[in-house]
Amino acid sequence: MSVLSTENGVMRFGGVLAVDNLNIHVEENEIVAIIGPNGAGKTTAFNMITGVYRPTEGRVFLDCGNGEKQDITGRRPDLIAAMGVARTFQNIRLFKEQSVLDNVLLANHVRLKNGFFSAMAHWPYYYKSEREMRRRSFELLERVGLVESANEMATSLPYGLQRRLEIARALATQPRLLLLDEPAAGMNPKETEDLTQFVAELRKDLGLTILLIEHHMQIVMDISDRIYVLDYGKTIAEGTPKKVQDDPAVIAAYLGVDEE
Ligand SMILES: Nc1ncnc2c1ncn2[C@@H]1O[C@H](COP(=O)(O)OP(=O)(O)O)[C@@H](O)[C@H]1O
Ligand SMILES: [Mg+2]
Repeated sequence: MSVLSTENGVMRFGGVLAVDNLNIHVEENEIVAIIGPNGAGKTTAFNMITGVYRPTEGRVFLDCGNGEKQDITGRRPDLIAAMGVARTFQNIRLFKEQSVLDNVLLANHVRLKNGFFSAMAHWPYYYKSEREMRRRSFELLERVGLVESANEMATSLPYGLQRRLEIARALATQPRLLLLDEPAAGMNPKETEDLTQFVAELRKDLGLTILLIEHHMQIVMDISDRIYVLDYGKTIAEGTPKKVQDDPAVIAAYLGVDEE
C-alpha cells in the first residue's frame, strides 16, 4: 500500500490553477522527486499534502503504518505531523535566536504526549521524557553532523548546515514520511554532494519514505526511484530518472529555463 497518495488533487488561488489533477503515490521506503520550473506548483502540492492548504478538489491519503488508508484531506497540519509526516520548507524556518540544540528540542514537542498540566501531575515522568528528548536530540545532531555546534545560535551556522538543522528538526518528530522542499537550495557543490549522500542514508538507516522537491538535477537523478514532472500545475511526465530525462515534453518545459 502507498504511504502517500493523492487523487485528482486540485488547488486554485483565485484565477490561478496552481495544481491541476495531481495523482501521485509514494511507496514505502521510496525516494520520489517532484521537479519542474519555478511556479510549477511543487510547493503548493506539499502544502496540500501537509494540510497547509485544503485542496480545492481531490483527496490526499496516508497509510499510517497500520495498513489502513486514511483520508487526510484538509486535516490540520499538526494532526498530519502527528501521523508521521514531517517536512522542511523552501525558505528556512529555524528559531533564529535559539541554539542548534534548542531548535531540535522544540521540534520534539509535536509528538510529546504529556503537555504542561500532566507534567505538573506526573513530574517524574515528564522529567524522564525531557531527558529522553535531550538524549534523542543529541543523537539526531550527531546523525546530521551538527553535534559540535549544539550550543551555537542557529543563525551562526553556514547556510548548508542550517538546511541540515531543518532536516534534524523534521526528524525529531519521528516521521515515516519526510517531505523535503528544495533541501539543496543555496548549497555549494560540495554541500550538495554531501546532502545527496545524507538523504540516501536517511532512507537506508531510518527506513524513511521520502518525497523531494529539488532543482539540482544531479541529486534528483542520483537518488530518486521515480520522478514526477510538473509544469503549470500539470503533471507532464512521470517515471524513472532515465525515462523522464529523455522525455521531449520535459526537455521542452525546461528549455530557456535556468536550473537555479
Ligand atoms: N498562497 C498563494 N496565493 C496565491 N497564489 C499562490 C499561492 N501559493 C502559490 N501560488 C501560485 O501558485 C503557483 C505555484 O506556486 P508554487 O507551488 O510555489 O510553485 P513552485 O514551488 O513549483 O515554484 C504560482 O503561480 C504561485 O504564484
Ligand atoms: Mg517551491
